[in-house]
Amino acid sequence: MCGIVGYVGSREATEVVVGGLQRLEYRGYDSAGIAIFDPDCGLQLRRSVGKLHNLVLRLGQEPVTGRVGLGHTRWATHGNVTEENAHPHRDASGRIVVIQNGIVENYLELKGRLLELGYHFHSQTDTEVIAHLVGHYYREEEALEPAMRRAMAELRGGNAVVAFCVDEPDRLIAARLGNAGGVVIGAAAGETFIASDVPAILDYTREMIFLEDRELAVITRQGAAITTLNGAPVTRRPVSVPWDPVSAARGDYKHFMQKEIHEQPRALMDVLRGRIDQEAGQVHLEDLRLDDAALRQVERIYATACGTAWHAGLVAKFMIESLARVRVEVDYASEFRYRSPVLGSDALLLAITQSGETVDTLAAMEEARAQGVPSVAIVNAIGSQAARVADGGPLYLHAGPEIGVASTKAFTSMLVAAYLFALRLGQARGTLRPAQIREHLQALVELPGKAATVIERALPICEDLAEHYYRASDALFLGRQVNYPIALEGALKLKEISYIHAEGYPAGEMKHGPIALIDEAMPVVCIAPRDAIYEKMISNIEQVRARHGHVIAIGTEGDTLLASKADHVIEVPPTLPLLQPVLTVIPLQIFAYYMALRRGCDVDQPRNLAKSVTVE
Ligand code: AGP
Repeated sequence: MCGIVGYVGSREATEVVVGGLQRLEYRGYDSAGIAIFDPDCGLQLRRSVGKLHNLVLRLGQEPVTGRVGLGHTRWATHGNVTEENAHPHRDASGRIVVIQNGIVENYLELKGRLLELGYHFHSQTDTEVIAHLVGHYYREEEALEPAMRRAMAELRGGNAVVAFCVDEPDRLIAARLGNAGGVVIGAAAGETFIASDVPAILDYTREMIFLEDRELAVITRQGAAITTLNGAPVTRRPVSVPWDPVSAARGDYKHFMQKEIHEQPRALMDVLRGRIDQEAGQVHLEDLRLDDAALRQVERIYATACGTAWHAGLVAKFMIESLARVRVEVDYASEFRYRSPVLGSDALLLAITQSGETVDTLAAMEEARAQGVPSVAIVNAIGSQAARVADGGPLYLHAGPEIGVASTKAFTSMLVAAYLFALRLGQARGTLRPAQIREHLQALVELPGKAATVIERALPICEDLAEHYYRASDALFLGRQVNYPIALEGALKLKEISYIHAEGYPAGEMKHGPIALIDEAMPVVCIAPRDAIYEKMISNIEQVRARHGHVIAIGTEGDTLLASKADHVIEVPPTLPLLQPVLTVIPLQIFAYYMALRRGCDVDQPRNLAKSVTVE
């Protein structure tokens, strides 16, 4: 949450900072602001409420210039969405500016102290506390770096902070405390960039250094000097990020979500690339640091994640239990550590996260580490915190940047990554013979083509469905077994971008309550491929019809029975039962997309949400 960008070099800093913020706007869009310094013009601050576009308009009327600067796009935590609460914030002298991502948990206590010392506050934010604290110590230290060290030492909570002082115009100081979301530094000849996420600086460099917890970086034109907050030098080699700037741009698509839906066939190929040997009937997971012996010892897996990634965890449970015969518990990461879990020495934590920065998922990984349990992270963002702290190794999705707040291609890639992991586990534990693995691999390599067919088929149908149902105030999503999590995911997609109240339910549970909601105004999306539980699902559909609900069914190609029972059908090609969710979810993503579009909602930046949830 909140996007941070900084630049020191010889380009016009405004272009770099605003360009970077445009790439980070998915992290928060309540307000935006920049501070740019020029020796002749001094420190120029511009802030605007609402989307970045408003700041850009403001900059058109009141331009700024300079070769060093920083900027911020805000997801409000403390204080309303007002210009006073927008970042950057100034210290009392007005010579220091600060931007922050995170939450200062002890800000009230610090604010109380600063008020007693005579400081005045102009905002309700916790960030202004940092600005005054840095300014306070600057007066004693007469240098920004030690002032930042002293200020950071007093903060509690996860925080990423960047500061600038007009008296040291050649540098920015960045510091990271806890899991406040990423701080990535990119150096090129004579210029250095800093951002909270890779896409912001991809236009300039792909060689990135990631700041760790309790580290501070002095950013100058010559690069970044990193130390711990206590001052011990840190040497870190840059990571080469294999994403190109085009992958982070919207191209000809109207929305990132639309682009990312269309990218799924390619993403499904990329998650498989180099990992399967069809001839030998084997799976190779290059980054996994657990060998066969270690995998054989695993008797229990805790899949932990949030939101859409948690739904992937629910599907992963079916895959792992069925293919590798290992027990899986699925936990909301936000609940995991608070239930004092008893993990055991034969356990493994499977963290699933697109961004690799979700604070609760990182905390679950920490909890596992504290109990001596290794973690494997199914993760998309290269070099993210989850990828770095997963001692069992990251299992990268290689899906490319996902910018739309509603997760699409990351979800289907997560499902395939989880399948690969289940096969790898089954291979090590001997629950699957090579001939069986070969069959699974064959189904996997056919998936991208089938996903392309589903997209093509679902687009016109969903556009029509949206025309039909866009006025609905509620929707119900039903699925059974491995498609129950897909019902949850379909409901989440619809509610988060179209603001229609939607619930996902296991179809068999409908009779125990939700059936009371069904009437002639209620669209009921039923996921009913031809699988072991198909007939039960057909009975559930009959029950919906008997209450005059409108049935939108997702079913297997050529299913005439289903077509006769439902008001609308979207067909998906057959595949292995455990892989069906990869195909059945795609029409639900497209349905949500068109519903949101028809209702005039902001598809990529839905209200109140942010892409990376880096606060609790
Ligand atoms: C998905 O559409 C969401 N906006 C959200 O639920 C997301 O999946 C969740 O916040 C987890 O994010 P992560 O995968 O980056 O950890």
